[in-house]
Amino acid sequence: MKIIYGKAGVKDIPELLKLAEIFEKEHYANVIKNNPEIEEVLKRKRDWLKEMKKFFRSCIYSKNAVVYTARHNGNIVGYSLLITKKNIPVFKIDRYGYFGDLFVLKEYRGIGISTELKNIGLRWFKQKGMEYAYIGVHFGNEKARKIYRKWGFVPRHIEMVKKI
Ligand SMILES: CC(C)(COP(=O)(O)OP(=O)(O)OC[C@H]1O[C@@H](n2cnc3c(N)ncnc32)[C@H](O)[C@@H]1OP(=O)(O)O)[C@@H](O)C(=O)NCCC(=O)NCCS
Repeated sequence: MKIIYGKAGVKDIPELLKLAEIFEKEHYANVIKNNPEIEEVLKRKRDWLKEMKKFFRSCIYSKNAVVYTARHNGNIVGYSLLITKKNIPVFKIDRYGYFGDLFVLKEYRGIGISTELKNIGLRWFKQKGMEYAYIGVHFGNEKARKIYRKWGFVPRHIEMVKKI
């Protein structure tokens, strides 16, 4: 299967939003299944896609962010969203690369698309002078955690939450 990788432009935002919506539904269900206590804090605003649209736009225009797409027959079947972030000042590492979203449509999984998006992302971070890449993952997303371990990412920080 021929998959073409490239950078997203603003014209791709409507298609990216469709994928982001599928991503959110699946991710929410998956995380809740493994970690039901987290349900309330994962709930999004009714119009969250409007915010997501602004966010995609700002990432596409920013020199510190990029959205990569994987296409099959011209259609976006997966994407990654990368940002370089400033670290808090106490650490030796000043800035680091951060993988925000990483998503591949179900029908296209298991054929190496996310691995390639990750490799492209790591190259982009290196070009930007980053020495470390971080990837956020929900505690309940066991599949993604396993994959990231396989890719050589080491668990660093667990954030816990409590209703007060
Ligand atoms: C997680 C996800 C991005 C993986 O995408 P993918 O394109 O299917 O991944 P790849 O085909 O590149 O496979 C990556 C590696 O993980 C392995 N893998 C795939 N599914 C796995 C599973 N269920 N458990 C463990 N490893 C798995 C593959 O074998 C591969 O390893 P290999 O290169 O040694 O063979 C995709 O399943 C997805 O979009 N899931 C829903 C969204 C999500 O959870 N994203 C992460 C949010 S932080």
